[in-house]
Amino acid sequence: MASVGIVVFVATLLGCVVADDPIVEVKSGKVAGRVVEFAHEDVEVKRTVHVFQGVPYAEPPLGDLRFRAPKPKAPWEGVRDAKELGKACVQPYEPLFPMDEPQSEDCLFLNIYVPQIGSDKLAVMVWIHGGALILGSGGQNYDGTPLAALGDVILVAINYRLGPFGFLSTGDEHSSGNYGFLDQVLALQWVQDNIAAFGGDATKVTIFGESAGGISSEYLALSPLTDGLFHRAILQSGTASLPGFFSDDVAWQKMLAHGLGKLVGCEKETSEELVDCLRTVPAEDLCDASNSNNGKLGNVTGLGAELESIPFPPVIDGNVVSAAPADLIRDGTFPKRGLDFMIGALADEGRLFLLLLMPEKANDTEVSMNKTFYEAVYPAFLGGERKSNQAVADAVKLMYVNWADADSEDADYAETLSQTQGDIYFVCPADNSARVHSQAGSNVYLYQMTHVPANSILRMKWLKATHAEDLPFVFGWHFDSALNWTMPEDDVTVTLKVMKYWTNFAKTGNPNLSDGDAELTEDEKQTEWPLFKVPGLAYKDLSLKMETKRALKAKECAFWNDFIPKLMKHTDATQVCSTADDEEKAKYKEEEAKIHNEL
Ligand SMILES: *[C@@H]1O[C@H](CO)[C@@H](O)[C@H](O)[C@H]1NC(C)=O
Ligand SMILES: *[C@@H]1O[C@H](CO)[C@@H](O)[C@H](O)[C@H]1NC(C)=O
Ligand SMILES: *[C@@H]1O[C@H](CO)[C@@H](O)[C@H](O)[C@H]1NC(C)=O
Ligand SMILES: *[C@@H]1O[C@H](CO)[C@@H](O)[C@H](O)[C@H]1NC(C)=O
Ligand SMILES: *[C@@H]1O[C@H](CO)[C@@H](O)[C@H](O)[C@H]1NC(C)=O
Repeated sequence: MASVGIVVFVATLLGCVVADDPIVEVKSGKVAGRVVEFAHEDVEVKRTVHVFQGVPYAEPPLGDLRFRAPKPKAPWEGVRDAKELGKACVQPYEPLFPMDEPQSEDCLFLNIYVPQIGSDKLAVMVWIHGGALILGSGGQNYDGTPLAALGDVILVAINYRLGPFGFLSTGDEHSSGNYGFLDQVLALQWVQDNIAAFGGDATKVTIFGESAGGISSEYLALSPLTDGLFHRAILQSGTASLPGFFSDDVAWQKMLAHGLGKLVGCEKETSEELVDCLRTVPAEDLCDASNSNNGKLGNVTGLGAELESIPFPPVIDGNVVSAAPADLIRDGTFPKRGLDFMIGALADEGRLFLLLLMPEKANDTEVSMNKTFYEAVYPAFLGGERKSNQAVADAVKLMYVNWADADSEDADYAETLSQTQGDIYFVCPADNSARVHSQAGSNVYLYQMTHVPANSILRMKWLKATHAEDLPFVFGWHFDSALNWTMPEDDVTVTLKVMKYWTNFAKTGNPNLSDGDAELTEDEKQTEWPLFKVPGLAYKDLSLKMETKRALKAKECAFWNDFIPKLMKHTDATQVCSTADDEEKAKYKEEEAKIHNEL
């Protein structure tokens, strides 16, 4: 019996390393991955891909390490098993995007996918997942095997701390916040230190992310802390100035931190006492107390439904975040490193948020919204101070309502609201960032994805090309046998081109479909992707034809980026708008808290 016990013990410690497992020595020790043979009937490429999962880049951020900058992983003895995903970071349950990976506060892992093509200078792409800085992981949805195999790049997908674990700030040195960003920075440092051991080129690192991952990527690009850690960035439907993902109000931060404390038995006078106490609270309790959907934090702080849906956003910590991102972008006061950028959004970003407002329409084939409902809900979409400024609210209607049909009883406002939301949160911040980075000397490539996927993530046709629908195309879910996600022929054409654009950009800084010096074919000429310049404003329409267009939402973006700030300055922000009755407002408020959670 004793010997069986020992065998089991050894096997759990070291996993099951077998003779032909790929073993790589990183700075902190050896890891044993596994071999995946990539092949698919729709592509000629066959590749062996070495997969390393659950590789720790930091010490588990537990106990006294909670609410502190991450510590690099201490060395281990022997060969560490790296064949399965590490646990996802602790997060609340979100029915629309359920997380079915096991969770733990011990979650600072990364996953590495390495194509075997006999080169030791592979470009590296580091994926920062989305989920409002509250949800998600670098795990099963982001298997990098197809991108690695078809694009000949190394893909690294990282986990980082979420919710209060990642971002709780007391507005002082006792909890300075932004731990999730510091995790991302340490993971990038890990890539610098170790990726050569996998055949990667540490001078050719592209960070890319969707939604909160795009937001994070631009925060990192603006940060004084990331010199030399990466060279290119792809911001998919998320930029640092996206409304709701930043706080510079220290009193507000303290109030929320103490509110959280109250809910978990840490009612304390000072920040120091509070943070010490919060370090002893079970992770599940902190997670539950911080979930803006269950009303507890809104209740205890007296904010009710006014509680921002991201109670613990990034803050200025004087370290990884030096100032408000919107100010850095407006004033151009960020480090100019000549990074290459690819920036974009989808054509129907806002439709996902319509679903949150009208969950009863989930199974309808089309969606519509009447004028009364629209009038009740649209100001809340404006975000921040804009929603209580009547002049702004009226201007927004002027801009977006379809006035040709507005007198008709059955005029439809669904598209009006979807486009308004998409422009405020995604398209126009992307346009602004593209202009600023281009004018600061970066090469910028702008896109809009208009292709409507046959298989939507939420399986609802009317969502069209909505938020997050780019993910299956970028990661090639069609080619991932574990996901059972098949695409019809047109979508396969689009995903292959998108993957090529993304990986070309990572390799060369230019997403063009042509390879090196080869003569361009007619197809390649059509799908060339010119630089975004001011003036010029060229962008790529990600669709079957991959046409080049210009001036993406130019009027709408002038409205949001130029006109509205001026209007705010010249009008009285204390007037309250919206003519909705109380019942409609109440219905809306329930849904409003959920809106940010999907980003
Ligand atoms: C809000 O607080 C009150 C009193 O403190 C309590 O009775 C109620 O259950 C709380 N509601 C929620 C959703 O936590
Ligand atoms: C939509 O259809 C699914 C599957 O048939 C069902 O489970 C769900 O309850 C429906 N939702 C609504 C809002 O009708
Ligand atoms: C408008 O739509 C809402 C929600 O779908 C519905 O409850 C309301 O009765 C409608 N109002 C009118 C005037 O049709
Ligand atoms: C894979 O997807 C197809 C089509 O959506 C479905 O019919 C089938 O049951 C799925 N198979 C598995 C193993 O989930
Ligand atoms: C696309 O790449 C090819 C080959 O590298 C180059 O000749 C061409 O100028 C590029 N086109 C654009 C628009 O950048």
